Amino acid sequence: ISLKESFKNDFLIGAAISRSQINQTDSLSNALLKKEFNSISPENDMKWEQIHPEKDSYYFETADKYVALGEKNNMHIVGHTLLWHSQLAPWVHTIKDSATLANTIKTHITKVAGRYKGRIDTWDVVNEALNEDGTLRESLFLKLMGEKYIAYAFKIAAETDPDAKLIYNDYNLWKPEKRAGVVKLVKSLQEEGIKIDGVGMQAHWSLLGPSIEDIENSIIAYSDLGVKVSFTELDITALPNPWDLDGAAVEQSYEQFESDPKMNPYPIKLTDSAQTQLAKRYEDIFKLFLKHKDKIDRVTFWGVNDDHSWLNNWPIKGRTNHPLLFDRNYEPKKAYHSVLALKNK
Ligand code: G3I
Repeated sequence: ISLKESFKNDFLIGAAISRSQINQTDSLSNALLKKEFNSISPENDMKWEQIHPEKDSYYFETADKYVALGEKNNMHIVGHTLLWHSQLAPWVHTIKDSATLANTIKTHITKVAGRYKGRIDTWDVVNEALNEDGTLRESLFLKLMGEKYIAYAFKIAAETDPDAKLIYNDYNLWKPEKRAGVVKLVKSLQEEGIKIDGVGMQAHWSLLGPSIEDIENSIIAYSDLGVKVSFTELDITALPNPWDLDGAAVEQSYEQFESDPKMNPYPIKLTDSAQTQLAKRYEDIFKLFLKHKDKIDRVTFWGVNDDHSWLNNWPIKGRTNHPLLFDRNYEPKKAYHSVLALKNK
């Protein structure tokens, strides 16, 4: 029995995959992907700087393989992401006026979403447009076009691929102020008659937070707007988050972090007690997901197994993290069993 089988009547179970996984050079990881997951997200290979690095040049080779891999294995295929201030190609930053930027966004979305029309199931149309207090982030897009850039991107995406589900994706969407920002954003799109199908809560969480209550309040608030919720980038850091510690700690040098047992307490292997804590945290979270399964489309992990996670070497080199359900030997962890046990008693 696998994750995807266990939750097949509840929600999709996804994983983000990196370029090596798309190129299928890691056969163990690909076997695990096929066995356990029924949805994929491209960790980096559809981002603007990758897929549209110069004004008139596109790089579709890896994205083409990514979509083909999903189709071959009958998976739900996510596109990530059409518009994001980060990992934007440098040439876009040289644009100085609203009309040129609008045209550029239109060309980008039409070209990228158009190439995969009818083949991408869900697009993360706009990524991380909000500040922590729920106001709009001062990105290039906001500076030149004002807040209408979001509606504009959704409108073009809907025209380009009418069958794709279109979602707004961001982190910390459990925070009450940011939640209010999303509610405002979704409502304004709806009032303008612009198609938006869902909210993607990224879910880069820790053992300590966010609280189940805050997550639940957001699920309910978004669902009350008539859109679906997806957990799009789930991982749970087993290490203390730098921002949970003394703020000054983040300013320390890499070397200091590496030798600080508080920052990297499980360098190679997760201790038994940390395994147990992680298992309990995942269990609590999946219990909540099951409680609201009617509101949730998909739960995607940001990686297949621990050695593929972006959280390794972040925010400092040498930091070994253990945030996923499968370990470095592609073996299920205690957390995997605690999640599966919720469905297979
Ligand atoms: O591909 C280049 C390689 O050619 C080069 O030699 C190497 C040296 O730095 O960098 C490689 O690119 C890195 C890329 O990951 C692929 O490994 C980038 O430096 C690195 O910045 C990039 O990090 C990605 C990060 O987004 C960038 O913001 C992570 O893999 C990816 O997991 C992460 O994903 C984001 C989501 O898209 C949005 N939500 C947050 C999430 C986590 O940050």
